[in-house]
Amino acid sequence: MVKMSGKIYIVGIGPGASEYLTKKAIDTVNASDYTVGSTRAIELFEDVKGKIPFNVKDLLDKLEEGVQLACDGHTVSILSTGDPGFSGVLNTVLRISKEKGFDEKNIEVIPGISSLQLAAGKCHIQWDNANVMTFHGRENIEEILPVINNGKTTIALPSRKVKDMAQFLLDNGVDPERKVVVCERLSYPDEQIVEATLKDIAQSEFTYMCIMVIY
Ligand SMILES: C[S@@+](CC[C@H](N)C(=O)[O-])C[C@H]1O[C@@H](n2cnc3c(N)ncnc32)[C@H](O)[C@@H]1O
Repeated sequence: MVKMSGKIYIVGIGPGASEYLTKKAIDTVNASDYTVGSTRAIELFEDVKGKIPFNVKDLLDKLEEGVQLACDGHTVSILSTGDPGFSGVLNTVLRISKEKGFDEKNIEVIPGISSLQLAAGKCHIQWDNANVMTFHGRENIEEILPVINNGKTTIALPSRKVKDMAQFLLDNGVDPERKVVVCERLSYPDEQIVEATLKDIAQSEFTYMCIMVIY
């Protein structure tokens, strides 16, 4: 008997609130046999079949489980906050799929509204003219230094705490009076948009769910 190939959808769920979910994302998850995602992401959808929740520690195991289910012929949605292609799970899922011999032609990306887009919208920034950078989960923070004074606004996903990133910039000679806007928990009821100087941001506490806009 010929084994039917399954399908993987990598679904962007937007910045967090259900009003930013696309109809395409909802329809895709509803039609899937299994859905892999953080508990918070899965809870955005009603009537999810075959829930496979992950947390930070077991993320890779659960992604592998999802890809294996697709290899076995099932339709699997893998949820990613914001857009899967901006600091999301896209590359990781592609890598695991390749390792397992799952045909990339059977992978479809459903784009979502990125937290970056929402931050740019809140700050009235035409983001095609901004330095768009992500340091999330990476050790590449030095890459901000060559661009931070190039005259463009920088929109960045911080690597660690916002205050540490601000301190890094201060330590590397960036003007302490530079204007910074921190967009925290965008789209949630406790969303905060905080405008301050770089030196004040270096003294402030925020959650990990922030975008930094450096003017
Ligand atoms: C793994 S990355 C995912 C980014 C996502 N793919 C996107 O397009 O927004 C997680 C980081 O994105 C940022 N982020 C995600 N959702 C956010 C929100 N609702 N408000 C502010 N920042 C958010 C935070 O910097 C967080 O640490």
